[in-house]
Amino acid sequence: MRQLDNAKEIIQNNWRDGFTVPTSELYPFQWMWDSGFVALGTSTYDVKLSMSEIDKMFSGQWENGMIPHILFHSENEKTYFPNYDFWNSQVNVGAPSAPKSSGITQPAVFGFILKDILQNHWDNTDVRDFVKQIYPKLIKYHNFLYKYRDPYHEGLFFIYHPWESGRDNSPLWDESMGKIKIKEGSIPPYKRRDTSIAHVDERPTQDQYDRYVYLLELGKKYNYDGKEIAKESPFLIQDNMMNAILIKSNDSLIEIAKDLNLDSGQVVEWQKQSRSNYDQKFWNEELSTYVCYDLRHEKQMLHREIGGLIPLFANIPDQNKAKELEKYLTDLNSRGYYLCPSFDVDSPHFDSKRYWRGPIWPQMNWMIHQGLKNYGFTETAEIVKSDLNTLIHKLGFFEYFEAQKAIVETIDHGYGGKDFSWTASSYIHLNTAK
Ligand code: GLC
Repeated sequence: MRQLDNAKEIIQNNWRDGFTVPTSELYPFQWMWDSGFVALGTSTYDVKLSMSEIDKMFSGQWENGMIPHILFHSENEKTYFPNYDFWNSQVNVGAPSAPKSSGITQPAVFGFILKDILQNHWDNTDVRDFVKQIYPKLIKYHNFLYKYRDPYHEGLFFIYHPWESGRDNSPLWDESMGKIKIKEGSIPPYKRRDTSIAHVDERPTQDQYDRYVYLLELGKKYNYDGKEIAKESPFLIQDNMMNAILIKSNDSLIEIAKDLNLDSGQVVEWQKQSRSNYDQKFWNEELSTYVCYDLRHEKQMLHREIGGLIPLFANIPDQNKAKELEKYLTDLNSRGYYLCPSFDVDSPHFDSKRYWRGPIWPQMNWMIHQGLKNYGFTETAEIVKSDLNTLIHKLGFFEYFEAQKAIVETIDHGYGGKDFSWTASSYIHLNTAK
């Protein structure tokens, strides 16, 4: 009970003008998928907060439909790099002049989040009206992904920047990022801010950061939506997690449309091939998991990592494949790891401390918990939930957590930013939602 109160207090303290920041120092603006997960949590105790949060996010939607990964509502805040002036998203004529935004997107979580909110507040006419009002904007967003990011019309879209995946510095991206050649003068000078706020060894390296800036500049050069991005970008990846989340959100849009008597014809069309193409293109028999696909070099990316588990959440695998994914988790559980480490613990790239290269992330546990329940793996779903609870109770509401049980014994705090919004909201939803 006390922890639930703490969680709500964190969200209250991170509340700004109608939305939350992920954490006050490190990330002082509105982040897209963070906001979605916060709206889930707040919907369990004050649905007005959720509606406000979502509304604010959609106030930054571009004319082409894109929802940016960051909205810079307060233009005075200069403590973050890259700030809105560095993104200069105005190069795209459809980018609103306010709020200012970044030029890339993040996982398409709002479909399934709206569905959850609607289901739990069915009797509330304000909520029903709100969902009706957001619905066409969401269709427009999904349409953006298919129109600008699916050159072969496969029902699978690409990303051209690791930050879009939400798993910024996962070892997944090392190979493609390594191919980027940074020559003298090919990126403008810049000054990072994150390493003066968080520990250097918990953040991406300088070399990685230069490459992030290179891809940002590439997007900017083509007004952030040009077809040329796909032609030129050395980083062109169909992400297993983002595509599974989109498929899940499409399903939710179809369900919402049924409930509220709306038109979902276009979504039904997208879904005709997305699920089967996903299953065919991303499943890797040897690794027994779903992998990402490198569209630039036309090959699967052979890593086991957390994105491969998200298809459970979108009901993509058949029961046999689902069982393989569950086994991966039960093995880790029996080997002294909390669930679910973000990267393959047996890989030389695994780093239990550095951001997306190994640690546990709360919102990932939320999705995987749901996914395991979908397939009837209730015991493992329970471990995914109780592991997150244990970590939060022992280490606090941090951004992410150590994966190795033996190390957790020796520490008294989590990693990254503290008093983190999605940690608080995932905790609230996991422990209170019906
Ligand atoms: C980091 C994470 C990303 C998240 C953002 C704000 O960039 O990798 O997933 O949305 O922080 O919390």
